[in-house]
Amino acid sequence: MTVKRNWTPSSWRSHPASQMPEFPDRVALERVEAELRRYPPLVFAGEVRNLQNRLAKAAEGKAFLLQGGDCAESFAEFTADNIRDTFRVILQMAVVLTYAAAVPVIKVGRLAGQFAKPRSQPTETRDGVTLPAYRGDIVNGIEFTPEARIPDPGRQVRAYSQSAATLNLLRAFATGGYADLHRVHRWTLGFVANSPIAEKFRDLADRTTEALAFMEACGIDSSTFRGLAETEFYTSHEALLLGYEEALTRVDSTSGEWYDTSAHMVWVGDRTRDTNGAHTEFLRGIANPVAVKVGPSTTAEGLVRTAEILNPANVPGRLTLISRFGAGKVMANLPKLIQAIQREGRTVLWVCDPMHGNTITSENGYKTRLFDSILSEVRDFFTVHGAEGTIPGGLHFELTGQDVTECLGGAQRITEGSLSDRYHTHCDPRLNAQQSLELAFQVAETLKAHRVATSAKVAAAS
Ligand code: PEP
Ligand code: CO
Repeated sequence: MTVKRNWTPSSWRSHPASQMPEFPDRVALERVEAELRRYPPLVFAGEVRNLQNRLAKAAEGKAFLLQGGDCAESFAEFTADNIRDTFRVILQMAVVLTYAAAVPVIKVGRLAGQFAKPRSQPTETRDGVTLPAYRGDIVNGIEFTPEARIPDPGRQVRAYSQSAATLNLLRAFATGGYADLHRVHRWTLGFVANSPIAEKFRDLADRTTEALAFMEACGIDSSTFRGLAETEFYTSHEALLLGYEEALTRVDSTSGEWYDTSAHMVWVGDRTRDTNGAHTEFLRGIANPVAVKVGPSTTAEGLVRTAEILNPANVPGRLTLISRFGAGKVMANLPKLIQAIQREGRTVLWVCDPMHGNTITSENGYKTRLFDSILSEVRDFFTVHGAEGTIPGGLHFELTGQDVTECLGGAQRITEGSLSDRYHTHCDPRLNAQQSLELAFQVAETLKAHRVATSAKVAAAS
């Protein structure tokens, strides 16, 4: 067991904590936290360790991380169909990327706990009325009324039970036959047949069909190989509401280590990654794999410091860095950070979040993102890692399996005029199912080109 110096699950309380709500009813808050401490863990330490081992492979280029889901889960959109459809689109994307990357794709949902939101402004003003900002369903209500916006500790109990039910369904889907590779591929063939740019994707889809037929001819199918019939699926969220995370942090009896059992993996956001802050302090002591969002204001020294604090023993798979600069800003920002991490010999997994640097407001007032900006940031991420000789190890998306109209463009050509048709997000705009899969196909080409170029370099050097 590694002892983390001066750390306890509550040591974050003596550090400056940004983005945390002020709960007016402290007594109710303490009661809720005590209640959560008695509740069963949502995930098990053994699963968390498995994920960390998988992420260590991704850091070496022998696996690839696909992380995705809602910006903010909500109580209102909590239905089996929503969970199923998000799970399904992540699996479909994973199959496309597996084929292109020729390595296992690790599937991690922003699901079963992704409730608390950092905000750029502490208040929101509408028609001259100013109220506290909405901070996610685990904190307050989205309705624009003074009552709804008061932070209510009772919401944490509801978020816990929704997370437990969501995880239960995800586990059932992952191992109960729903995730069978042949079935997932059949859905994708349906998508390709109906896509306005079907021609572009048919080749890759057909080759996957052939690969599956070849395996079947060799006697490898869902009945003979469990890996085709089921899948591993992990959960993650931003560890923002630290009282909630603390209450679910438990000692694992096998290893004696502290695990945050609210999810397999947690991250700190671009607004809470201060090295002296409460959020970094909390992440420092838990044994889960952790991630940090890396934005335009991240400095090389700050990032190296973060890596030293969060992963002093340099354990592979422990630390993921999720870059999110915005299209056109990757070339200017990422290389110096990669170089600093390399220079200091820090082992990290580099992942690209092409969503959070690309949020814009449409002329008609919707927070949105352009499909092409998202794709462009992903491509630049691969280009930079190609040039630096480092590993582009994964992607992080805000997406939903529903047919929403929140991001602009894609083959469906969603326009500003159609944003209002089905704009349902509780926070940031998400790719819909078609846009997500289309993006996976587009990225597959980039991934494959990167793989071919890298192996050519290796061959030339040997
Ligand atoms: C998010 O992932 O929803 C988020 C708020 O990201 P960031 O911290 O990178 O802005
Ligand atoms: Co978001």
